[in-house]
Amino acid sequence: MSSKLIIALDFPSADKALDFVSQLSPADCKLKVGFELFVSAGPEMVRKLTEKGFDVFLDLKFHDIPNTVASVCKVAAKLNVWMMNVHASGGSKMMRAAHTALHDKEVKNTRSLKLIAVSVLTSMSNEQLQQTGVNALAKDQVIHLAGMAQQAGLDGMVCSAQEAPALRKKLGKDFLLVTPGIRPAGSAKGDQSRVMTPAAAIRAGVDYLVVGRPITQAKNPLEVIQQINAEVHGALQ
Ligand code: C5P
Repeated sequence: MSSKLIIALDFPSADKALDFVSQLSPADCKLKVGFELFVSAGPEMVRKLTEKGFDVFLDLKFHDIPNTVASVCKVAAKLNVWMMNVHASGGSKMMRAAHTALHDKEVKNTRSLKLIAVSVLTSMSNEQLQQTGVNALAKDQVIHLAGMAQQAGLDGMVCSAQEAPALRKKLGKDFLLVTPGIRPAGSAKGDQSRVMTPAAAIRAGVDYLVVGRPITQAKNPLEVIQQINAEVHGALQ
């Protein structure tokens, strides 16, 4: 079974990221490259990781006019990433343009490329959401945007594990749910407020777990990775 664990490579430089990655195996985890590492180390970093055989989730949350998002998705696909994301609040037309661009025959990506949506950032409270002019509760807005993403042809979305059961019910079993805010029992929460253990998240219907600091800042990262994989395996039985 391919690993359900995506490690967030939130490092400030290529050297630090590659040093950390040198101890990992693509059989044990996938890797997420977000703003920090991409801005410091660029597409070359992504190429190096895919050449090592890792499935890479390019977490750049594209949000712009449909034509621009479609173009950047095509360029990103050429990096041979496994997953990328766009903001659902960019609208149906934008999501459809991204989806169509990735199915262009010019795009030669050897992974089975997944396009997922970001809905309401988990850092937004109901009050903050209303300040942006959205008169819905955050949890309802997440469900609304998820439905739009599915209609636009996207493969899944980023969500919190707490939202997973309702989303699974509405979107069916094939829509991917990718979840940060995962904390193995006993590890520090950091700045995440609503956290769940790997086993509880899998039981809630999550497909992929995004874990950063509990692994990247651990004394023995491999031990934590093995623990999480074992926990996931147990929860799937
Ligand atoms: O270190 P930690 O496990 O908290 O890392 C979680 C990762 O998931 C970070 O890269 C963070 O940017 C990302 N993320 C998140 N919450 C969201 C979306 C993305 O924590 N709603």
